[in-house]
Amino acid sequence: MAVFERIAEKRIVPVVVLDHEELAEPLAETLLGAGLDVMEITFRTAAAAAAIHRLSAQYPDLLLGAGTILEPDQLRRAVEAGARFAVAPGLNECVVAAAQEMGIAMVPGVMTPSEIEKAMSLECFTLKFFPAEQAGGVAMLKAFEGPYGHTGIKFIPTGGIHPANMRSYLERPSVAAIGGSWMVEKKLIAARDWGRIGQLTREALAAAGMKP
Ligand code: 3PG
Repeated sequence: MAVFERIAEKRIVPVVVLDHEELAEPLAETLLGAGLDVMEITFRTAAAAAAIHRLSAQYPDLLLGAGTILEPDQLRRAVEAGARFAVAPGLNECVVAAAQEMGIAMVPGVMTPSEIEKAMSLECFTLKFFPAEQAGGVAMLKAFEGPYGHTGIKFIPTGGIHPANMRSYLERPSVAAIGGSWMVEKKLIAARDWGRIGQLTREALAAAGMKP
């Protein structure tokens, strides 16, 4: 199955910040055990590439993404490590062009109509809506669906999503998946609270299975 189809199937993209690469395996085991085989590891820490490399070698069924990709060199390192998709907070044409050259699925970030149209002109059709809550949340998505609903463009809203508001995003027809850190919060990972991470992940997956 193609990358975007797999993301749209699970509908949940955990946004992970790992300070220590050796925490990658227990976290992956926890997510997989909860039924989630998608994971975005952000290039905000020095451990990101090594963590992706370890997981891609050990868990071929895990769909691994590299997050917070701000420049092409990070993308190259992510691809070499085994990432299958890349996510960025913004729409950087250099990064999009590099992703297309490298053949990796790219999800650039947008928060305005002009950025959506720019992304479409670059042949990006699955977009991170970031920062979702701060940029208008579900009401903003509904507004986007007016002029862009018929285009087939899909969003992965991320930023400020949590158990109390995740369902309202998942109900929107333009939402391929929701992203966020709520089930993999840094403090939960630091505390190695795999039980809580597993529970939050199962709850998110259950919400994602809910039909509007
Ligand atoms: C991101 O990088 O996508 C966001 O930092 C995740 O947002 P959240 O922490 O509010 O879920």
